[in-house]
Amino acid sequence: MYGSAVIYGIRSFGYKNRHIVLNHITLNSKNPSPKKAVIIGASSGIGAALAVEMSRKGYSLGLTARRLSMMEEELQPQLTTPAWFAHMDVSEIDNAVATLQDLVRKMGGVDLIIINAGVSGNSSGMEREAAEQLIKINVLGFAGMLHEAYRIFQKQGHGHIVGISSIASLLPHPNGSAYNASKAFVSNYLDSIRLRIKRKEEHITVTDVLPGYVLTPMTEENKRMFWVASVEKAARQILRDIEKQKSVSYVSRRWRLIAWLLSIMPRGLLNKIL
Ligand SMILES: NC(=O)c1ccc[n+]([C@@H]2O[C@H](COP(=O)([O-])OP(=O)(O)OC[C@H]3O[C@@H](n4cnc5c(N)ncnc54)[C@H](OP(=O)(O)O)[C@@H]3O)[C@@H](O)[C@H]2O)c1
Repeated sequence: MYGSAVIYGIRSFGYKNRHIVLNHITLNSKNPSPKKAVIIGASSGIGAALAVEMSRKGYSLGLTARRLSMMEEELQPQLTTPAWFAHMDVSEIDNAVATLQDLVRKMGGVDLIIINAGVSGNSSGMEREAAEQLIKINVLGFAGMLHEAYRIFQKQGHGHIVGISSIASLLPHPNGSAYNASKAFVSNYLDSIRLRIKRKEEHITVTDVLPGYVLTPMTEENKRMFWVASVEKAARQILRDIEKQKSVSYVSRRWRLIAWLLSIMPRGLLNKIL
C-alpha cells in the first residue's frame, strides 16, 4: 500500500533540545510494511551501520547513544526514513529506561529493539574500576534494556529483541576477562529469556548476534585480528538474520565453525591453546 506514497516523517532531534522538522519520505515499493526499530548504541560502528542499512530498507528508527551530536551530525544525513534521536547512557539505568519509553512513545510504537551498546575497555579487565565500568555498561546496562524491551513487547503482545553479544562470549581470555564474561552474560541471558518466552507462548522473537571481528572504532587499534568483516557487511548480514528471525546470528558466517569447535573442545585443550 506504500508503493508510491509520499509520507511525512517527523524527526525530533535531541532529548533536551527538542526541535522538530518535517521530512519528505518516499517509501520503497518493495517494502510494503515498514517497521519501527530502536537501536541502542547507534552513534558509531555496528549500530550506526545498522541504522543506515535499516533506513535503506524502509525502517523508521529510534536511535540512542551518549554522543547525541555525532548521531545528529554524521548519521542523520545518511538516513532516508523518519528517525528520532535521544541521548542515553545505559549505565544510568533508570534514566535509560525512561528515555526508551519516551522514544517509543514518540515513535508511536516499536517492532524491534536492538541492544548494541557496549564497550571493550582498554585494560586487561582485571583492574577493579575498569572492570566495574565495563560491567555497568555491558552487563547491568544490557540487562536494564533487555528487561524494558521485554516489558514493552509483553504489553503489546509481540516484538523482536536483538542483543549484540560476541564470539568472545564463548571463551575465556587472559587479556579480556571482564569483556568476555560480560558477553557470556549477554548470550546466556538472551537464551534464558527466549526459553521463558517459549514456555509462556508469547509472540516475541529473541536473536543473539555473535560477531567475530568487525572493523569499527572499537577494534581499529587491534592488530591481531583475522577474518575481519567490514562494518557494512556485518550490518547487512545482521539485518538479514534479524529478518529471518534467527535465534543466533554469527557474523560473518564462518565464525559458526569456530563456535562449534569451541563447543566440543575439552577445556584442558582450550586452556593450552589460549
Ligand atoms: N567490532 C567488533 O569486532 C565486535 C565484535 C563482537 C562484538 N562487538 C559488539 O558490538 C557492539 C558494537 O560495538 P562496535 O564494534 O560497533 O563499537 P563502537 O563503534 O565503539 O560502538 C559502540 C556503541 O555503543 C555505544 N555505547 C557505549 N557505551 C554506551 C553507554 N554507556 N550508553 C549508551 N550507548 C553506549 C556507543 O555510543 P556512545 O559512545 O556515543 O555512547 C556506540 O554507539 C558492542 O556491544 C561490541 O561489544 C563488536
